Amino acid sequence: MGSKRSVPPRHHSLSYDEIMFAALFAVLVVVCTGLMVVSWLAIKESESDSVLETSHEARGTFKITSGATYNPNLQDKLSEDFKILAFDLQQMIDEIFQSSNLKSEYKNSKVLQFENGSVIVIFELFFAQWVSNENVKEELIQGIEANKSSQLVTFHIDLNSIDITASSENFPTVSSATTSDKLTTSRPLTTPGNDSVECLPGSMPCADALNCIAVDLFCDGELNCPDGSDEDNKTCATACDGRFLLTESSGSFQAAYYPKLSTSSVVCRWIIRVNNGLSIKLSFDSFNTYYTDVLNIYEGVGSNKILRASLCETNPGTIRIFSNQVTATFLIESDENDYIGFNATYTAFNSSELNNYEKINCNFEDGFCFWVQDLNDDNEWERVQGSTYPPFTGPDVDHTFGNASGFYISTPTGPGGRKERVGLLSLPLDPTVEPVCLSF
Ligand SMILES: *[C@@H]1O[C@H](CO)[C@@H](O)[C@H](O)[C@H]1NC(C)=O
Ligand SMILES: *[C@@H]1O[C@H](CO)[C@@H](O)[C@H](O)[C@H]1NC(C)=O
Ligand SMILES: *[C@@H]1O[C@H](CO)[C@@H](O)[C@H](O)[C@H]1NC(C)=O
Ligand SMILES: *[C@@H]1O[C@H](CO)[C@@H](O)[C@H](O)[C@H]1NC(C)=O
Ligand SMILES: *[C@@H]1O[C@H](CO)[C@@H](O)[C@H](O)[C@H]1NC(C)=O
Ligand SMILES: *[C@@H]1O[C@H](CO)[C@@H](O)[C@H](O)[C@H]1NC(C)=O
Ligand SMILES: *[C@@H]1O[C@H](CO)[C@@H](O)[C@H](O)[C@H]1NC(C)=O
Repeated sequence: MGSKRSVPPRHHSLSYDEIMFAALFAVLVVVCTGLMVVSWLAIKESESDSVLETSHEARGTFKITSGATYNPNLQDKLSEDFKILAFDLQQMIDEIFQSSNLKSEYKNSKVLQFENGSVIVIFELFFAQWVSNENVKEELIQGIEANKSSQLVTFHIDLNSIDITASSENFPTVSSATTSDKLTTSRPLTTPGNDSVECLPGSMPCADALNCIAVDLFCDGELNCPDGSDEDNKTCATACDGRFLLTESSGSFQAAYYPKLSTSSVVCRWIIRVNNGLSIKLSFDSFNTYYTDVLNIYEGVGSNKILRASLCETNPGTIRIFSNQVTATFLIESDENDYIGFNATYTAFNSSELNNYEKINCNFEDGFCFWVQDLNDDNEWERVQGSTYPPFTGPDVDHTFGNASGFYISTPTGPGGRKERVGLLSLPLDPTVEPVCLSF
């Protein structure tokens, strides 16, 4: 019986193809190993690079007594004034440290901010390895005294004002707070050199570096820092349109990049403040957001503000807030970038000038007119277009137009038939002598 299996011969002389294949394989192995070694070395190198990169940062401040004068443009990092002065001062600091005993450790400097008071300069220094604050301060003072920079012809620096602090520890950042409503503002810069302020977790220093306030109190429309720095236009500027306090009697604010498509993870907050006694009307040129990306409109500011509307997806029509202060927040949490966002326009109006008829009459085509949702009930009225869902739980159309275009209001639509109180309030009406009827 012959086996059908072909048994490979024990001693088999290698064919030409096999030799070629083996050689090729060997070459590949060598090349791959080489590549792995090279990339491992590269990773090692970049690791040690990045270790060097972050090895030491110090923050400092000094006062220029002459050679520069303060002007408000210096608050704006993009202004010509800021750039020119910052450039000269960086050059000065560089020259001083490059000719100091720290020249081998010193990397570079960056001017962060200017403050009034002749001119107070706040800057950062980068070193390749740890150096003590005292050492840095000493070298800077010596460099200035020894006239180590040509810039010192122009700038006169008060040696007693020089102060150096380690950069990272003393400056808690906004990102350490984990409130969902956290703002993407740049954290306020403090005047370094004052050890008196050590903020607890969840709070941050005011610009005076003397007071700490809760992170939530920044940019909420109420002054909490004695110097008012928690409500600073610049600090609080939204990531959306770069604005914060809107104090004109009318204006507009926009989602980020409007009318281009939006971006993800944006948190914006605006404060609208008009004259006492007036109310605020909001309407939207266009409105288009993903359903999780919500524009909240609050009556008032600070911790006592009242949520009056949560808007997403489609244009809500006109919204009226019967207060002279409105907080608006816009949160994009989704990665859905196919939405243009919104352009909101506001105007101030005087609700005391309305008569009873104007306060009551509404066809709901453009929002709720002057009606206000009762917040002490179980649910909210909804503004609906077309038929209610599920079918036969309400009308098919409104009676303004009698077709699918018209809006009407309904108690909450959608599955579930719980018994609920759903209230809607009018503005206070003027007393009338004649009896009046309310019709629907
Ligand atoms: C800077 O402060 C001084 C006094 O503190 C003040 O007189 C001056 O108007 C301020 N300058 C600016 C531009 O704010
Ligand atoms: C500092 O050096 C500059 C030249 O770099 C010179 O013009 C100036 O007089 C010097 N100032 C002092 C106080 O030595
Ligand atoms: C540091 O704080 C003290 C009060 O605690 C204050 O008098 C001083 O001016 C502050 N120094 C700086 C540089 O802000
Ligand atoms: C800052 O706020 C004031 C109102 O206090 C406003 O008039 C001004 O236009 C705002 N500045 C910017 C740059 O938004
Ligand atoms: C609002 O209108 C009422 C009635 O006309 C008037 O008395 C009041 O002064 C107005 N308020 C403002 C802030 O204009
Ligand atoms: C938003 O709408 C207002 C009023 O219609 C308009 O003046 C403004 O230019 C619009 N803003 C943008 C960014 O389209
Ligand atoms: C509904 O009626 C209004 C007014 O007659 C009209 O402008 C609108 O186009 C109509 N809509 C539809 C969907 O027929």
